[in-house]
Amino acid sequence: MKIALVLGTRPQIIKSALFIHSAKKDQINLEVIHTGQHYDYEMTKAFFEELNLPDPLANLNVGSGTHAQQTGRMILRLEKHLVKGNFDLVVVPGDTNSALAGALTAVAMDLPVAHIEAGARSYDWHMKEEVNRVLIDHCSTLLFTPTRHCTQNLLKEGIPKEKISEAGDTMYDLLLKQREKLLDTTSLVKLNLKPKIYAFLTLHRRENVDVPDNLRTIMGAIMALKFSVVFAIHPRTSMQLKKIKLYNKIKDQENVRILTPRGYHETLQLIRNARVVLTDSGGMQKEAFWLKTPCVTLRESTEWMETVELKANRLAGTKAEAILEATRMMANCKIGEVPNPFGDGNASEKILQAIKNYV
Ligand code: UD1
Repeated sequence: MKIALVLGTRPQIIKSALFIHSAKKDQINLEVIHTGQHYDYEMTKAFFEELNLPDPLANLNVGSGTHAQQTGRMILRLEKHLVKGNFDLVVVPGDTNSALAGALTAVAMDLPVAHIEAGARSYDWHMKEEVNRVLIDHCSTLLFTPTRHCTQNLLKEGIPKEKISEAGDTMYDLLLKQREKLLDTTSLVKLNLKPKIYAFLTLHRRENVDVPDNLRTIMGAIMALKFSVVFAIHPRTSMQLKKIKLYNKIKDQENVRILTPRGYHETLQLIRNARVVLTDSGGMQKEAFWLKTPCVTLRESTEWMETVELKANRLAGTKAEAILEATRMMANCKIGEVPNPFGDGNASEKILQAIKNYV
């Protein structure tokens, strides 16, 4: 049995980490193929090191470009690689261009595709990731959903239930393993931060950062907050802020502190100790939920409605007044004991066993 796992971005490394570890323990021949979509040290290599993952056996070095260029290059290079590799199945995690390229290349070669985090839907077709999710799910053979909601989304779209397996969320598995590291506050001390008095901000969605008006409005709201804001900035956002000549203004703003992208453990510590998280990331909405930090989502929609229904997350969109109001509300709310819809922490292991049985 020989399996390929195609990834290329920071969140995909996190979603795959325990799956890779379990496969190694089980002596399964798993080859990790990195597309090269993310290439900065702190966006990719740092995560392999921190999560003790072996280096990918292949890096396709596709780099940046338009979505068509990026995905096209991935497909061309992946096909060559998969032809040589003689694989039985291809695993793709999440909803990125790397996952889409992996799925499309594999089905075109009649290879079965296993999708980790299947069925997530924001029902916002303007999001590139939403298009990717639907396409990946509809060409996958094994669909591993993180929640009941996701399973229902797939059934509504006519995907046969035999293909779906409600394994739980692999990001939750990984987070559960970090208990001790989470209690460590070295990174807070290093950054001279006190718990529960700052907001933790990340922003990178194309709809938010590539549209100058949206980016200006969001940043205007952030600068007007009465909180100190810790902003771990994504390379894409940093580039766009420089382009619209807002970067220096934010850097000089008294209540905002810009940081380079943080590692996995440090990010979790920053989330756990924040008064409130402000983000447009899918993964961080879930991590805030698990760590009981209230979250304000800087989007009109979310694929993690469970967190909104359980009142741990609020959709603020991108209008300044709504962001300020949602932040005021969430910063003063406490998340009590709520059910966890994301599985029992053994998703990665269940996925591996199901793939073994299938192959
Ligand atoms: C991608 C995913 C998104 C995921 C996010 C996590 C898609 C469509 N989007 O968005 O779902 O949540 O990763 O970060 O796949 N750049 C660098 N260094 C890097 C990587 C990117 O400077 O290591 C810059 C490049 O200029 C690049 C831009 O950031 O053009 C955007 O990167 P891209 O891979 O297109 O998408 P992300 O915004 O990272």
